[in-house]
Amino acid sequence: MARITASVFTSHVPAVGAAMDLGKTQEPYWQPLFAGYEFSKQWMKDNKPDVVFLVFNDHATAFSMDMIPTFAIGTAAEYSPADEGWGPRPVPKVAGHPELASHIAQSVIQQDFDLTLVNKMDVDHGLTVPLSLMCGEKDPHKDAWPCPVIPFAVNVVQYPAPSGQRCFNLGRAIRRAVESYDEDLNVHIWGTGGMSHQLQGARAGLINADWDNKFLDRLIAEPAELAKVPHIEYVREAGSEGIELVMWLIARGAMADCADGAPAGLQPRVAHRFFHVPASNTAVGHLILEEAAR
Ligand code: DHB
Ligand code: FE
Repeated sequence: MARITASVFTSHVPAVGAAMDLGKTQEPYWQPLFAGYEFSKQWMKDNKPDVVFLVFNDHATAFSMDMIPTFAIGTAAEYSPADEGWGPRPVPKVAGHPELASHIAQSVIQQDFDLTLVNKMDVDHGLTVPLSLMCGEKDPHKDAWPCPVIPFAVNVVQYPAPSGQRCFNLGRAIRRAVESYDEDLNVHIWGTGGMSHQLQGARAGLINADWDNKFLDRLIAEPAELAKVPHIEYVREAGSEGIELVMWLIARGAMADCADGAPAGLQPRVAHRFFHVPASNTAVGHLILEEAAR
């Protein structure tokens, strides 16, 4: 059967992608940020998944403001990097996994979550920047990403966004879906976006490193309690775009200690933790959690 062996959490700042694409990663501003992902790139090689289930948000790129699904699962065979106004990022196309994606859609919809099926979609920085950070620089003409990806888009762009609690419960349903797939696949689930940032309005530029670090502590140690945090706290403490962090609860909810009947005291192992401010307008947070029994 397929199984989830690890979760990865990372911010998706678009300027990070531009820094990689323009060869600026060793500049003094960027070097400390990229140093925090050196471990992660090696970890990806040492723990290569068969599939990444990548929870991200589209920034009015694939969906536009005309139509915004709350939860959308990518069932396509391939996804192209989107043109966000400066041309598509020069990174490889993203291979999908239509069979596992369709199975997860079937299972999760039957568990009463209304997913939108997306058979064609371009993917913006919300998806390609986490891939670049974890997999390193890739030549679109010569290289490929290390494995297929199932993109899972969450609306955190226009209110109302889903609650942290609903995201956490959805993660638990995704775990059940993965574990009911017959093929023996090693699946990683990623939660992306965040951490604190606000891009507009009177509080533009807001960063709250204390709150972010407490979020990381609680995500590791007490995710079910963290899931109860209401929207208003994200917006007040982490800024309007800090709401992207509810996506991290989907990935965390998919881990073994959050499942029904999990033994008390079961917790994932923290393989890596990194925090850096600022990158562009955003606080960058990053975690790699490995299942205790893999
Ligand atoms: C920035 C961060 C984001 O999450 C985003 O989607 C766009 C811009 C920023 O920090 O500039
Ligand atoms: Fe964003």
